Amino acid sequence: MNTESFPDAIVRARALALHFDDGETQALDGVDIAIRAGEFVAVVGPSGCGKSSLLNIIGTLEAPTTGEVFFRAQPYGGIRDPSLFRRQHIGFIFQSFNLIPTLNALDNVVVATIGVPGAGSDQVARARELLEKLGLRDRMAHFPNKMSGGERQRVAIARALINTPDLILADEPTGSLDSANSAAVLTLLTDIQKERGLTLIMATHDPSVSARADRIIHMRDGKIALPQDPAP
Ligand SMILES: Nc1ncnc2c1ncn2[C@@H]1O[C@H](COP(=O)(O)OP(=O)(O)OP(=O)(O)O)[C@@H](O)[C@H]1O
Ligand SMILES: [Mg+2]
Repeated sequence: MNTESFPDAIVRARALALHFDDGETQALDGVDIAIRAGEFVAVVGPSGCGKSSLLNIIGTLEAPTTGEVFFRAQPYGGIRDPSLFRRQHIGFIFQSFNLIPTLNALDNVVVATIGVPGAGSDQVARARELLEKLGLRDRMAHFPNKMSGGERQRVAIARALINTPDLILADEPTGSLDSANSAAVLTLLTDIQKERGLTLIMATHDPSVSARADRIIHMRDGKIALPQDPAP
């Protein structure tokens, strides 16, 4: 794909490679992408094809072995404080939730606002509001080990949204949810996408999720693939 083709791209990546085990594992192998601001993009492909690797690099959690990434015009190499950059611009919904076990649901959401300029005392109210919208009104004081997988996943979604990010990176965000909760989470995310021009990049195995995306990026063996590419 021509990565110059979207002048309004929020994320642009060129020739990304991510190698492990001295190059033996090529999690990513020459990926070019451009994501438009406000777009909902689903990233699909078989287990191990590189979806999480791509999201982790876009989220500045992992540095590519080679290649370049830009957030708007900003090259990732020039970001001085990646942790602050993430909290200001990116909401991450991890495949494994990554909740803090010693904090209850409400505090797991509020903790994401620490150190973010402009995050005031209303963050607790906002966290409550988000958790209520996600159907967790009665779970705010619960600790992660006292919640179901689906409840933990929804706490992780509230945490990703609390700082009103420009970009949500979601790795199988509905993987632990039943169809009713999965639909509610998708509706919440797509409502915010439309209201605020939020950009959503979501790795998913669920065809009912990718069907709601503006665009689907297919991956195979660390590369962008065409949808009709046959399975190996
Ligand atoms: N830290 C690591 N060390 C070695 N290999 C890794 C590491 N992380 C990922 N890999 C490998 O890189 C490849 C891509 O992994 P990745 O997690 O990006 O796949 P995925 O598409 O997200 O899969 P899934 O659908 O199962 O979540 C896999 O072969 C995986 O085993
Ligand atoms: Mg993955």
